[in-house]
Amino acid sequence: MVCGKGGTGKSALSVLMARLLSDKYKVYLIDSDESNELLPKMLGTSSPRPLAEYLGGKQKIFKIGEINIVKALETASGGIKPGALPEEYVSRSPEGIGLLTIGKVRKLGEGCACPFNFLTKVFLKNLRLDEGEIVLVDTDAGIEHIGRGVEEGSDGVLAVADPTVESLTLAKILKDNCEAGAKDFWLVLNKVTPEISDILKKMAKRMGLEVTGVVRYDPQIFRSSLQGSKLEAGEALNDVKLLLEHMNLL
Ligand SMILES: Nc1ncnc2c1ncn2[C@@H]1O[C@H](COP(=O)(O)OP(=O)(O)OP(=O)(O)O)[C@@H](O)[C@H]1O
Ligand SMILES: [Mg+2]
Repeated sequence: MVCGKGGTGKSALSVLMARLLSDKYKVYLIDSDESNELLPKMLGTSSPRPLAEYLGGKQKIFKIGEINIVKALETASGGIKPGALPEEYVSRSPEGIGLLTIGKVRKLGEGCACPFNFLTKVFLKNLRLDEGEIVLVDTDAGIEHIGRGVEEGSDGVLAVADPTVESLTLAKILKDNCEAGAKDFWLVLNKVTPEISDILKKMAKRMGLEVTGVVRYDPQIFRSSLQGSKLEAGEALNDVKLLLEHMNLL
């Protein structure tokens, strides 16, 4: 799960990681952000139908409950396989990355995003991946999803921090929760410029955070987000590759 304070670069890094990993794995990217819209565009594909719709809509999710959600989604051989979902629920990027989306809050008074967090948790807890498959989850801003225990279903958390104390503070909270829940934890510092790189690393160390990777500020990433087009990256792509190597994923 890719987590962290709002705007730190979770979605951008999720897309770049998914692309790099797609050389080695069959990659699924799960959009569990109930607000933001543009992840499909960043990935270069169209929006899939939300998984919540597969279950009859957001209002039904709590009523159905975990057992029936699993029943509705699991395959005959057991467990939930993202590749077995009907194709309208999985968009494909040009590299073959499968994009799933949990659901979006769109209407005044429709209620909170808790059912989506619950669905994400149930989905992850009951995933059965085939050899060579990997799932990345791009989460919503902040760490509200910890309260619903969404991380329980994951193997680990990659905290994305930008050059702010606030984002490091949230990363520390994520780390402590991962330790308590016996999950892997990694930290990436993103949007880093040469003049602040050392300062930021020292701050992280003082807060008890080990840095797994550093991704530089990259104008190409920034520009493609401005245009809402397919995400492009320059030298930062190599930083993301190093990050994945340090996570033993490449
Ligand atoms: N390495 C980078 N260099 C330059 N700009 C970056 C970098 N990473 C992300 N950005 C920019 O930061 C902004 C936020 O990025 P992104 O949407 O990926 O963050 P996020 O954490 O997913 O945000 P949210 O919390 O809203 O989901 C965008 O304008 C993006 O282009
Ligand atoms: Mg995002």
